[in-house]
Amino acid sequence: MSTRPFWLAGTAATGDSEITVTHPYDGRVVATVSVPTEAQIEEAVAAAHAVLDEAAALPAYVRAEALLHVSRRLAERTEEIAQIITAENGKPIKWARGEVGRAVSVFRWAAEEARRDSGELQRLDTDAAGTGRIAMVRRVPKGAVLGISPFNFPLNLVAHKIAPAIAVGAPIILKPAPATPVSALVLGEILAETDLPRGMVSVLPMPNERASSLITDERLPVISFTGGQFGWELQKRAPHKHVTLELGGNAAAVVLGDADLDWAAERVALFGNNSAGQVCIGVQRVIVDESVYDEFTAKLVERVEALPTGDPADEATEVGPLIDEAAAIRVADWVEEAVRAGGRLLTGGTREGVTVAPTVLAEVPGDAKVVREEIFGPVLVLQRVSGVDEAFSLVNDSDFGLQAGVFTRDLQVAFRAHRELKVGGVIIGDVPSFRADQMPYGGVKKSGVGKEGVRAAMDDLTYERVMVMTGVTL
Ligand code: SIN
Repeated sequence: MSTRPFWLAGTAATGDSEITVTHPYDGRVVATVSVPTEAQIEEAVAAAHAVLDEAAALPAYVRAEALLHVSRRLAERTEEIAQIITAENGKPIKWARGEVGRAVSVFRWAAEEARRDSGELQRLDTDAAGTGRIAMVRRVPKGAVLGISPFNFPLNLVAHKIAPAIAVGAPIILKPAPATPVSALVLGEILAETDLPRGMVSVLPMPNERASSLITDERLPVISFTGGQFGWELQKRAPHKHVTLELGGNAAAVVLGDADLDWAAERVALFGNNSAGQVCIGVQRVIVDESVYDEFTAKLVERVEALPTGDPADEATEVGPLIDEAAAIRVADWVEEAVRAGGRLLTGGTREGVTVAPTVLAEVPGDAKVVREEIFGPVLVLQRVSGVDEAFSLVNDSDFGLQAGVFTRDLQVAFRAHRELKVGGVIIGDVPSFRADQMPYGGVKKSGVGKEGVRAAMDDLTYERVMVMTGVTL
């Protein structure tokens, strides 16, 4: 098996060490990936810095054509890339194909936004002092970007870093998760087919410790990080930088008395367990009104037990392995701890190597880790409530606030949810896990700061620069 090169300023290169990527399900070696030396990392940063002005001045059509090229090539190579995602991440193949499809649309959206982005004119003669003046407001890049992406969506969360950066004309250095760098490297290969200037994109796999110098490097004034609570530490290490953090949470789905229980049970079962629960907006807390609690619980357990679990290469599999055995052990430990504290195991709770059986818990004390922390595993925790007040207050009783789902058919309750829930997104009639890639996406509290979603990320990577023209008669 040959070693995959990394992408240094758009050119394939190799360093002096390697990362071995293994299949989470069976441990076989999937790839070896070259890691840049300190000198090569410096070369990538210098190239990003050097291309700043050229990148910012790139015509919209050049940025858009490059983005569209990537979108088309991803679509053409869907099956190959989906197989890579499954091999490096353990995500069931049908979900891996879905992830490639999402990345196709992220790049397409970014191309469309790049063409649309014209800034705005603002009249200033609204007061006497502004007579004869007009302002042009345009967004310009804050600078070169360091993107740090997680293992759970090894392609699409990389797409969410790179596509908006290209769309606004900002160079980016992308550090993929060390466990899952291969899909990001394929993206690097496709990007190298475009006419983007050298230095615009580097994809540099490396162990996390190696990234320290990138985090503090002043030539990368913007950091976009998706991952765990380490994000806050990263922000402390780079106090002068613009840091966007997408850090996950313990997302709640609320099932109210008027909900369609079959639909709610089907969606909660699936989206508490897809990607083995390793999704920042995967359902974790299931807050159910007492009027439908027993009926809903029975439906939920039935559907969870029916989820095909096992080899992610199997077309039927819905729930595959966790990323590694340490993760599976931690999840199983948290479940055991909840049961020891008085929680009732309705199904699952077992672990076989790296696979945790889809699990449903009830009557768990509110201070248990499976309630308070982000479990990042295939575990659902049922909580019984009486009415909307208690349901919403339980959703908000969390250190996190990324997204929440509310199963209701009542429009007033829907608007109330949107008003009262302290989260970045409220999904009515579905799980918190719904995400369309063009939507603003990002949380409050310990879930992070800033927004992703193509347009929102473009705003995040840029600032408004005003030009006032004087002596203009409108
Ligand atoms: C995440 O897990 O951070 C992203 C979820 C998604 O894009 O669906």
